[in-house]
Amino acid sequence: MRLLRSVLLLAALLVLGACVHEPFAGTPGQPEPPTRECDPDTVYFNQELLPLFRGQCGSSGCHDAAAASDGVRMDTYANIVNTADVDPFDPNGSKLYQVLTDSDPDKRMPPPPASAWDPDLIERVRLWILQGARETDCAGCDSTEVSYAQDLDPLFASACRSCHSGAFPPNGVSIQNYDDVATLVADGRLLGVLKGTGYAAMPPGGPLDDCRITQIEAWILQGAPND
Ligand code: HEC
Repeated sequence: MRLLRSVLLLAALLVLGACVHEPFAGTPGQPEPPTRECDPDTVYFNQELLPLFRGQCGSSGCHDAAAASDGVRMDTYANIVNTADVDPFDPNGSKLYQVLTDSDPDKRMPPPPASAWDPDLIERVRLWILQGARETDCAGCDSTEVSYAQDLDPLFASACRSCHSGAFPPNGVSIQNYDDVATLVADGRLLGVLKGTGYAAMPPGGPLDDCRITQIEAWILQGAPND
């Protein structure tokens, strides 16, 4: 039984390994093989940081492909580590970390009137760099038990709330709480924007990863509970 389990695990790892993108030439980090179990002490770039960088820095007119202010593009792992000068294992030597923590508002990112990032988020970026700034990916895409409070609220907070809050959110769409999200589920716009079908694709900096979209779909199929 044990042997069977390890053979199955090995097979699963090989299959998963085959889907990993080839390492980008010239990037300091190597993509990590996906792991089944997510380690709470590890910062998973693809799940945790990429949506954040895309939503808060890679929006149109800032660090997207077209604008690329200062040559910095915050839309993919390769562009982020290369153009924001990430030095693996050395947060203080990484421009990305320096601009998030700069006390001079003229140099800080995001620039005013946006406020500085929450210290907890900056700490996750620091840890990620300390852990080698790799393209860490936790492929534990479990869509059987998706909880709004635990899984989706933090996701919408990091990927959507920077734009969809305040007195005049884009298109009048506020994404602050469960009721706001439930309204978008009911009129079909949530999946419409996430998949870019029939509506402007959201987030504007690039789609959420497939795992997240699958989880949201599974949650909607279960009746989009406020759990
Ligand atoms: C960088 C800012 C930004 C982020 C981040 C962002 N949006 Fe938007 N959103 C916009 C803008 C701007 C529009 C208006 C776009 C348009 O009409 O072309 C919009 C429009 C929408 C609409 C209305 C679509 C329609 O046609 O009625 C929905 C729904 C929406 N966003 C959902 C989301 C969700 C969900 C997320 C997170 C996964 C998200 N947005 C992230 C800026 C953003």
